Amino acid sequence: MERLLTMFEEADPFSTWWPTIAALAVGIVITVRTIMSGQRCPNDNQIKEQIVVITGGNSGIGFEIAKALAGRGGRIILACRNMVAGERAAAIIKRELGCHTPTTPGDDVNPADRYFVEARYIDLNSLRSVHQFAQQLMAEFEHIDVLVNNAGLVFANTQVPTEDGFERHIQVNYLAPFLLTQLLMPHLKRAEQGRVVFVSSHAHQAAKIDFDDPLNVGTWAVKFHPRDAFAHSKLAVILATRWLAKELKDTSVTVNCCTPGLVRGTRHLRNSPLMSAICIKVITYPWMWLFMKNAYEGAQCAIRLATDPQLKQVTGEYFNDCEIVPSSEAGQDKELAKRLYMQTIKTLERVTKLTVDKEAVTAGNQTEQTELKELTEE
Ligand SMILES: NC(=O)c1ccc[n+]([C@@H]2O[C@H](COP(=O)([O-])OP(=O)(O)OC[C@H]3O[C@@H](n4cnc5c(N)ncnc54)[C@H](OP(=O)(O)O)[C@@H]3O)[C@@H](O)[C@H]2O)c1
Repeated sequence: MERLLTMFEEADPFSTWWPTIAALAVGIVITVRTIMSGQRCPNDNQIKEQIVVITGGNSGIGFEIAKALAGRGGRIILACRNMVAGERAAAIIKRELGCHTPTTPGDDVNPADRYFVEARYIDLNSLRSVHQFAQQLMAEFEHIDVLVNNAGLVFANTQVPTEDGFERHIQVNYLAPFLLTQLLMPHLKRAEQGRVVFVSSHAHQAAKIDFDDPLNVGTWAVKFHPRDAFAHSKLAVILATRWLAKELKDTSVTVNCCTPGLVRGTRHLRNSPLMSAICIKVITYPWMWLFMKNAYEGAQCAIRLATDPQLKQVTGEYFNDCEIVPSSEAGQDKELAKRLYMQTIKTLERVTKLTVDKEAVTAGNQTEQTELKELTEE
């Protein structure tokens, strides 16, 4: 021990460059990690007793959103297609939050029971399932405060259609969340301040979209590479956010969307053959750790959108790292947004017999009402 102490005392750190290089490397790693982890939700506002629906809340980013909002007092409904995973996620959230709740002496309530976190079945691959989920929820609750349309995937190919006949990216990532939003709208309007949060992606910037067929149902859908189909579905989410917000401007409901950034440790790329190779995982892990967010960091933007009273009047915006940012040029195209919106309503009406109150969605604008009527009757 004594010898070791003498060695340290006699050591001259300036006789070699290694300590400086090591300190620099650590500094760079910490700086890069801090920048890449993005901004945290800048407040810890409580949302006591607010009813929050989160699609895909059983894993990844959705799970972190659910945990944070439950911790702030929300009554959370995890909308999942895998009920075992959903119930496990609900139990984990309640247990983790319960553990941190101080119990007062004589209080015999199980801490885990103080949190309302429940899993309900929805499969976005099936528009019928979306209807059933919405009907059940509306029968049970008088209003809904927040809807987070988080569920979304990159599929292995674009050839397999859903049971409703759509390409899977466009249905799971866009059409089904859009339908769910429309169906729950009367309940969102009944809340003091209803909020809809869509989770989009940076990938929307690479999207190719056909102005005459913005849903890409007729032209490109099945010819798309999954990467392009994903990008297109996330652009559709942004365009629909903008148009929905416009339609709802005279109501208390806000609609915004966000990108979580690049997030590691979720199952988002589960269908990528590249990412399922162990050696690729091992090689890329240090880089992913350095340059990507974890699920908690990726959830921050949606958490802010769901809770921040400062955003009460903010609607139709695209957020990154908890701040409003411009989307791609196509994402800001009002004509394209309107066309997509109308094609979506028309398509959903055809497939699901969804009856849309055309006067309500066009907020009294005579020209738009006529256009939508013509389009849906074509
Ligand atoms: N991770 C990223 O880098 C990244 C980047 C940009 C955008 N995003 C977006 O962020 C959101 C969350 O992704 P994540 O990274 O957390 O991925 P994830 O871990 O795979 O979570 C996706 C969630 O969506 C659910 N889901 C998928 N298909 C569904 C369906 N047909 N019906 C109901 N639920 C379904 C999944 O349920 P199962 O567990 O049952 O499959 C899962 O809970 C997605 O919209 C994604 O596109 C992620």
